[in-house]
Amino acid sequence: MTTRSFTPRSMNRRTLLGATGLAGIAATLAACGGGSGGGASDGGGAGSGTTMRLALNQTETHPSYIALDNFGTALEESTGGAWGIDVFPNETLGAQQETLQMASNGSVEMSIVSGTQLENLNPDFLTLNMPGAFDNIEKQMEILQDPSIVGELFASLEESQNITVLGGFTQGERSAYSTVGPISTPADLNGQKMRVQESDLHLAMAAALGATGTPLAYGEVYTGLNSGVIDAAENNEISYFTQAHYEVAPYFSFTRHLVGTDYLIINTETLNSMSEEDRTAFDEGWAAAVQEHTGLWVEQTEQAIADAEADGATFNEVDTAAFQEALAALPEEFLTAESQTALWDAVRGAQG
Ligand code: GCU
Repeated sequence: MTTRSFTPRSMNRRTLLGATGLAGIAATLAACGGGSGGGASDGGGAGSGTTMRLALNQTETHPSYIALDNFGTALEESTGGAWGIDVFPNETLGAQQETLQMASNGSVEMSIVSGTQLENLNPDFLTLNMPGAFDNIEKQMEILQDPSIVGELFASLEESQNITVLGGFTQGERSAYSTVGPISTPADLNGQKMRVQESDLHLAMAAALGATGTPLAYGEVYTGLNSGVIDAAENNEISYFTQAHYEVAPYFSFTRHLVGTDYLIINTETLNSMSEEDRTAFDEGWAAAVQEHTGLWVEQTEQAIADAEADGATFNEVDTAAFQEALAALPEEFLTAESQTALWDAVRGAQG
């Protein structure tokens, strides 16, 4: 592995938060104007527009940042400067658990959050966080854009949380990686502490995969792996590379145990304050962002593997059947409500 001095994004964030603290975040937000009735868009525009703040936990090179930033530019143009989007990357506004709350109370207008965050607000979201929910990214994107399957779910947080789910980005296929060595069967994960997202389902998933689950925020994973607090994690190839996890956990094993989903959420009051015309432009811009994101996903996945390999990481195939078998009991254990089984049947039914 080449030695070079590299500060992962998670460390940048830590330094920034350490230096400025929460007061700094508040000052950053205030200086950016934005919010309903806020200052002029930073791109100029008509001068009386609203710049929505969007919290993201990825780097500026990640497909989500690129697609959302372009969405903002297109929106500003299509609404004549009435609406813009300012994307804050690298968890600068906080981890997803916090930015979810911020979107709910209006201190930011938008955020990307993983499906695992939403299952804590409405357990029906858990259905789509289940290993085996989606066969592949293509099917996943079809389903996430089918209102007859997800329409009710996406509107379900409006009354209770003041949050509208606009749609989803793929998180790709998630696989396990370790500081210890390559994983081929669930037995290889025995005794390893594996970071999972903050979700009871994903804790059980880690156990079924043979590991001991440790919930941590995304931005804590690099340090966790580096310090030995955790031995393993699971994520897609792009996060593995952009978060520099490969530097400290060089064994990536294609368990492909889950096709994960990120959601774009927006404060419902903000959304409802758009004119009909602006709302149409907004929906069109978002649909284009989803398309761009999915295209970038495929390209960047290949590149992330090549770049991590060039820096010494190894990638190996696993005994896929052994992992599928290990996870097979989770749907029955976790999908207990009628609304969950109905959604599961619709999602699975749409994939033949
Ligand atoms: C992916 C996903 C993020 C999520 C992260 C995680 O990178 O896109 O939204 O936070 O996984 O494992 O926490």
